[in-house]
Amino acid sequence: MRRCQLVLAILAATVSSHAAKQHLAKQCFKGGVCYQLNIPAETASSGEGHIYFQISGPTSYSWIGLGQGSQMAGSNIFVIYSDGSGNVTLSARRGEGHFEPEHDTSANVSLLEGSGISNGRMVANVLCRNCQQWQGGRADFTSMQGAWIHASRPGRSLRTMERDANLEQHEDNGAFVWDYGSAKGGGNVNPFVSRGEEPIVSTPPPDPAESDAEIVADTKVVSDALMTAHGTLAAITFLVLLPVGAMILRVPGIDIWIHAGIQIFNYCCFIAAAGLGIYMAIQERLSNHHHPLIGMVLLGVLFFQPVFGYLHHRAYKSTQRRTLVSYIHVWVGRLAILLGMINGGLGIQLAGDVRRGYLVAYSVVAAIMGIVFLCSVVYWELSARKSSQSTEQGGGKSTSW
Ligand code: HEM
Ligand code: HEM
Ligand code: HEM
Ligand SMILES: *[C@@H]1O[C@H](CO)[C@@H](O)[C@H](O)[C@H]1NC(C)=O
Ligand SMILES: *[C@@H]1O[C@H](CO)[C@@H](O)[C@H](O)[C@H]1NC(C)=O
Repeated sequence: MRRCQLVLAILAATVSSHAAKQHLAKQCFKGGVCYQLNIPAETASSGEGHIYFQISGPTSYSWIGLGQGSQMAGSNIFVIYSDGSGNVTLSARRGEGHFEPEHDTSANVSLLEGSGISNGRMVANVLCRNCQQWQGGRADFTSMQGAWIHASRPGRSLRTMERDANLEQHEDNGAFVWDYGSAKGGGNVNPFVSRGEEPIVSTPPPDPAESDAEIVADTKVVSDALMTAHGTLAAITFLVLLPVGAMILRVPGIDIWIHAGIQIFNYCCFIAAAGLGIYMAIQERLSNHHHPLIGMVLLGVLFFQPVFGYLHHRAYKSTQRRTLVSYIHVWVGRLAILLGMINGGLGIQLAGDVRRGYLVAYSVVAAIMGIVFLCSVVYWELSARKSSQSTEQGGGKSTSW
């Protein structure tokens, strides 16, 4: 027993002396968001020069920020988010008040080795060459402590290399004091990669008291496969299936029940795509973006198309004229298909940088299908008008619809 305690004591001493050798100050917050800081000996004595810091946290975060200062206004802020290709984007920003800080190009910062995304964590190892001074602020690295701020936003992964990406407001934020004593020391080298050892990534303490942290961290990033499944199915439905199902009516000899059957089947495809979309929107807290909102409107509106289509058909059989319900069915259907085509483009934009490459291809196909569809509508409306003038019948060529 004694010996065991002795061994433990020696182990603890070794570990702590090892930690001391790292010259790293550490701070972790809610949700497994952690920060580390190193002020190389040279910087600590002269008060200016390079400093190194690390920002890390789960990929369930949209962005994680760290700032020099005691409040947003006047702070030198650094924000990280996924870059869409397995690494992180580091965005230096200038805090000016209680609104989104603007990208600041005067900060001389770079991402170092060891930065990246792995095991569900984003890690940024940062070298700042001029953090002793910024517009509206100064830091004194010779002192024993310094005021910093932190903030984070769980949610969808931004997947962009743009440094001025739009950020949504934090859910967690706070000011803290960093103990420079434990941060000072060491040479002017990346302290987060130890020579030949494991990379030094600060992991949050396994503290059960942080149970609400689990809830915050629970927003999962949806898989690319899910997004591709949704995007592909929805795009095929709105770019091909629905317009073809509508235009097929204008082919001579086609029965309306073919149109009805095809469109109801197509609507079911959309229900499946929308199901995936709604799941993603909830997971990534995107419900208030244009793309999912327009999608929901389409889902609701198209639900009534079969009803109006059938009512139109019943009325037309007896009156041989378009009724109000016919106009609703025809025009709501047409507009919904066109709106859905546009919505796909918004979806690709929402999906971020990685998918931006699809935007051109999607737009070309959408434009071609949209024009073909519109031409068919215009042609039909014009010939319907002509035939209604010559036969004194309302709407449509002579059909039994
Ligand atoms: C989308 C951008 C942002 C918006 C719209 C925003 C907005 C706000 C607002 C309205 C407050 C006061 C209410 C509250 O405490 O929640 C606040 C406080 C705070 N924010 Fe932000 N913020 C943004 C980004 C950031 C970033 C990137 C940081 C990085 C460190 C940050 C750090 C803080 C801190 C520490 C406070 C509390 C101290 C203070 O009042 O300034 N914010 N923010
Ligand atoms: C209920 C309706 C809908 C909802 C809730 C919804 C939701 C979403 C969400 C959450 C994303 C992923 C964004 C991200 O992860 O950043 C997305 C992407 C996308 N959506 Fe939708 N959407 C809906 C309808 C539609 C419709 C009508 C189209 C029409 C073509 C469409 C086409 C796309 C495309 C092409 C993408 C990009 C997929 C990729 O990059 O692989 N969505 N949608
Ligand atoms: C989700 C299901 C449906 C959608 C999205 C849909 C959509 C459309 C669209 C866009 C048009 C106009 C076509 C054009 O001008 O190019 C149209 C016409 C028509 N639909 Fe549907 N439809 C659906 C279901 C039905 C059903 C179930 C019926 C019948 C029982 C029906 C009967 C008709 C008829 C008779 C017309 C021709 C009306 C006219 O030209 O006056 N539709 N539909
Ligand atoms: C950053 O600092 C380095 C070395 O001091 C300098 O060579 C470089 O031009 C600076 N970059 C910016 C963007 O200021
Ligand atoms: C991320 O980028 C930094 C700086 O460009 C680089 O040093 C690091 O190796 C990259 N990480 C990954 C996983 O590619």
